[in-house]
Amino acid sequence: MALVVPEDLLNAAIKVRLAAYTPFSNFKVGAALLSETGRILVGANVENSSYGLTRCAEQSAVLAMVSSGERCFESIVVYTDTDIPTTPCGACRQILYEFSPKAHVFSVASSGDVLHSLVSDLLPNGFTLDDPLLKT
Ligand code: THU
Repeated sequence: MALVVPEDLLNAAIKVRLAAYTPFSNFKVGAALLSETGRILVGANVENSSYGLTRCAEQSAVLAMVSSGERCFESIVVYTDTDIPTTPCGACRQILYEFSPKAHVFSVASSGDVLHSLVSDLLPNGFTLDDPLLKT
């Protein structure tokens, strides 16, 4: 059975995308994740005049999750107004992996195309210090 995109996450990602700050690329991304306690945390991409300081939508969502006191998420939806789905960049894959390597990632394009994967599929053998004491 094919997995269905969680509708509440999709709606949240579509909405937060509009808050993206993208004067340089005009490429707006919205991300919404479901935490292990059932909360929805959102993030949009935030660019910077010093280009390398740009933060992706997925990173913003994970930072919001950790800032709200949570450490784990079940699923994340990434939404873009594109023909083909946008998958998390390499840096985002590592940041998602840090907290929830088994989480579902749904990349959804406005065309309706969806790509589903697990974080661990996007980042095989991802790096971790593997010491719970280091994750306080
Ligand atoms: N971007 C994201 O927000 N997520 C990704 O996974 C890929 C790229 C943003 C960063 C930048 O603001 C814009 O898209 C173009 O790279």
